[in-house]
Amino acid sequence: MFNLDKIIRPNIKALKPYSSARDDFFGTADIFLDANENSYGSVGIKEKANRYPDPHQRILKEKIAKIKNVKFPQIFLGNGSDEAIDIVIRAFCEPAEDEIMLLPPTYGMYQVAADVNNVKTRKIKLKENFQIDVENVLNSITTKTKLIFICSPNNPTANCFRKEDIIKICRNFDGIVVLDEAYIDFAPDRTLLQKLNDYPNLVILQTFSKAWGLAGIRLGMAFAQKEIINIFDKIKYPYNISELTQKAALSALKNEKQKNIFVKKLLVQKKSLMKIVSGLPCVVKVYPSDSNFILIKTTCAGKLYNYFVKNNIITRNRSNVAMCENCLRITVGTEKENKRLVEVWKKFKK
Ligand SMILES: Cc1ncc(COP(=O)(O)O)c(C=O)c1O
Repeated sequence: MFNLDKIIRPNIKALKPYSSARDDFFGTADIFLDANENSYGSVGIKEKANRYPDPHQRILKEKIAKIKNVKFPQIFLGNGSDEAIDIVIRAFCEPAEDEIMLLPPTYGMYQVAADVNNVKTRKIKLKENFQIDVENVLNSITTKTKLIFICSPNNPTANCFRKEDIIKICRNFDGIVVLDEAYIDFAPDRTLLQKLNDYPNLVILQTFSKAWGLAGIRLGMAFAQKEIINIFDKIKYPYNISELTQKAALSALKNEKQKNIFVKKLLVQKKSLMKIVSGLPCVVKVYPSDSNFILIKTTCAGKLYNYFVKNNIITRNRSNVAMCENCLRITVGTEKENKRLVEVWKKFKK
């Protein structure tokens, strides 16, 4: 049985979080002389940023709660979802003692964050069809396994995992399942966000970096039961989301339609790109994609990658990733960019 009290690190459980000036007083007043800011203003920028931002991002979270149909206390905001990846490890994994399970090939930051925190990883490879080897995952859980990272749609394979498999893992694991849905806007019916209340051990990550087109503002979301979110809030830096980021995200959320237009356009582009690419030189296989990128098996990924670079086109060579030998990962670009990619590719000589 999942028991949060049992899996939280004792030092984190006992942690008394920093109390900032904006924790002690939140509201409106005529004069703020409590946080040692510069009352005259900000240097060099038009936006007003001389005040510390709301450490709890209240207005932004209220808006996100509505759009995502979750409760306000179920939301954590981080400096990209990468911050949430790090925090979940720091909350639950005792360095040099506990373990995290990864399902490679998958997003590289899980391993890096584990390494930074001196936490071992146990890797259970995906099956040949890039789906989860559920039996192997469940059989490989030990008393040390505190987290299982599942990325769906998965980077770099681009596909979603079967919902039933993810749910089976949630049901049969006493630790935390971190479900990274960074690319979920491209496959919205595959989200498990609306099942959040059914699984007390589920943490879902989403981001503003992909479909929302806001990678530069650094804003990621984690959704979970409020008891888990409270732990993340205790650990985070007090003002982890800048004033400018909070404002930009609020403005974006008022334009959800634009995000949906971008998603539609990218999906149309992806469909035609996948069709064309399958007939281009050196292509062995174009894998199915539920995201805004495609994974392509080739006969010579390294050469092709360098050829693209020479032509001022940057793709990602994933050849050194297990199960992705000779694979390029290509982000779907604009119509113009994709056309150029195809033109250049057609002229490639091995
Ligand atoms: C699966 C996955 N999760 C998380 C991230 C990082 O997202 P963020 O920009 O919110 O830190 C990426 C970025 O490429 C990703 O591919």
